[in-house]
Amino acid sequence: MTQDELKQAVADAALAYIEPRLEDDTILGIGTGSTANLFIDALAAIKGRIGATVSSSEASAERLRRHGIPVYDLNAVDQVDFYIDGADESNRALQLIKGGGGALTREKIVAAVAREFICIADESKLVHTLGDFPLPVEVIPMARGHVARELVKLGGDPVYREGFVTDNGNIILDVHNFPITQPLATEQKINGITGVVTNGLFALRPADVLLLGTSAGVETLRA
Ligand code: A5P
Repeated sequence: MTQDELKQAVADAALAYIEPRLEDDTILGIGTGSTANLFIDALAAIKGRIGATVSSSEASAERLRRHGIPVYDLNAVDQVDFYIDGADESNRALQLIKGGGGALTREKIVAAVAREFICIADESKLVHTLGDFPLPVEVIPMARGHVARELVKLGGDPVYREGFVTDNGNIILDVHNFPITQPLATEQKINGITGVVTNGLFALRPADVLLLGTSAGVETLRA
């Protein structure tokens, strides 16, 4: 199977996972990226059966609206029942690196609110140690130089994502050559640097379920 077929398989599996659990007032959190896009397209078939969605990016919100799926502001809802999103990497504890698409901060906020975080990914995303994928860090623009110097002190190699501005008006530093053996401590340490909005490690709030697309079928992993 191609990577695109594996992504489609996990998007379909996520729909099958939530469908029997849906109530009239279910609020879905929707992630960002190519796998999340396939989930949005699949969701359109059952849009009449969900209460509404909240989105982790302007791009996903626009795609949802194009399908006629209602999108609420997160502050307008009391709870998010399920959050469905992709990842750039996951380890077996379902700690993730996210933010390849630059939506990490809103993704982290929706994940924090969600009752259940369902991650959907093809098998290439499962790793033993996080960090082959450069770790995205969202930074207040005026702090770029300071944060970059602090990230170098932590052993990383930060690279400014040229020409990219987040939905929150900030910039991204992608930290290369940075194997992450202690995801919890690293997430906290980087978030402690003044000027950092957040980083793309999801260790404090890992996924609850990982639907992993493999050539042998979709595997369900739990934290
Ligand atoms: C977006 O900011 C990311 O966190 C995505 O969830 C992640 O990059 C996965 O994207 P794909 O599904 O396109 O691989």
